[in-house]
Amino acid sequence: MKDITIAIDGPAASGKSTIGCRVADALGFVYLDTGVLYRAVTWAALERGIAIADEAGVTRLSESLAIDIQRPAVDDGRQYTVVVDGRDVTWLLREQRVNDGVSPVAAYAGVRAALRDEQRRLGLRGGVVMVGRDIGTAVLPEAKVKVYLDATLEERAQRRHRENLSRGQDSDYEVVRAELERRDYIDSHRATAPLSQAADAVYVDSTEMGIPEVVDRVLEIVRQVAATRE
Ligand code: CDP
Repeated sequence: MKDITIAIDGPAASGKSTIGCRVADALGFVYLDTGVLYRAVTWAALERGIAIADEAGVTRLSESLAIDIQRPAVDDGRQYTVVVDGRDVTWLLREQRVNDGVSPVAAYAGVRAALRDEQRRLGLRGGVVMVGRDIGTAVLPEAKVKVYLDATLEERAQRRHRENLSRGQDSDYEVVRAELERRDYIDSHRATAPLSQAADAVYVDSTEMGIPEVVDRVLEIVRQVAATRE
């Protein structure tokens, strides 16, 4: 069981991080949210005054930036602590300016290449739940368990809107919905490793499902895969 890698991909705010983290806890696996890597590059570019449209500049940054993902250091609902340039940027990665810039940054082939090796190294160790957009298709095509987690745009926007409000952040449902739609479009239409369901992924539509139900469904898929290997 411990050598299994679980890849969970899907559109923005489909619940990948909540489900991924809980599945990892249930199995005693490591959890890695790969969106954080793209968000960290975007945040650092904004901080350093590198224009998001400057592909060469952003790519160079992604090749040298040290992104450290640690166990949660503060008990404020976070799943991990992200340190960049010696700063705890965990919540800064959720700022609107990062939401706006991250999909264009993630579309740069050089940025994806720079971040791919580290993701593969971690994934190939097994005992990992990795969530993102291209884990089952490009980063770890050999993953034993692949889930494509989906929900309608309206449901995903409601979830992200409620999440923002619960964090004390200003939020407007219509704005959130438009932002998710825009990001999904860019993520699905980029040339390099676009968001798409791997041929061997199990499709899970979570629109009408609660969190425990989705967690159980993923654990059931893991058990089925583990059983066929015995
Ligand atoms: O949590 P949310 O669904 O809003 O997004 P995220 O998982 O933090 O990812 C932010 C952005 O990073 C996505 O919209 C993609 O543009 C990019 N991303 C990617 O290209 N590949 C991944 N494996 C993960 C994220």
